Amino acid sequence: MLGPVNHIAIAVPDLYAAVALYEKIGAQVTQPQDLPDHGVTVAFINLPNTKIELLHPLGQDSPIKSFLARNPSGGIHHICFEVDDIHETSRMVSEAGARILGSGDPKIGAHGLPVLFAHPADFLGTLVEFEQAKNADL
Ligand code: CO
Repeated sequence: MLGPVNHIAIAVPDLYAAVALYEKIGAQVTQPQDLPDHGVTVAFINLPNTKIELLHPLGQDSPIKSFLARNPSGGIHHICFEVDDIHETSRMVSEAGARILGSGDPKIGAHGLPVLFAHPADFLGTLVEFEQAKNADL
């Protein structure tokens, strides 16, 4: 089953400026965290009903480099839904005709939980992330 929106991710050209901007309007923002497996550095804005993930490229082959080249001032990059079972979601996404990015297998995401991404070209032009709400063996 599709659960709540876990976060909406915004790619930003300057992570520290982005954190400072949101702090100025009263947001509580986490310390930036490097995720080398995903080629990004992230900071989360915690809101009462969801989170905003601020994403900045990490390393030379970061998957968000080309996005920022097309959107130099930043932009909404993906939306993440919580799911109960990442493997069932993987099957449903495939059966719905959408490709899963990368190897097709779940990876461990920013919260230490299994995630996978559906290809935006197959998903209404939107990169969609699914995160298994509870940890479990991959
Ligand atoms: Co995300």
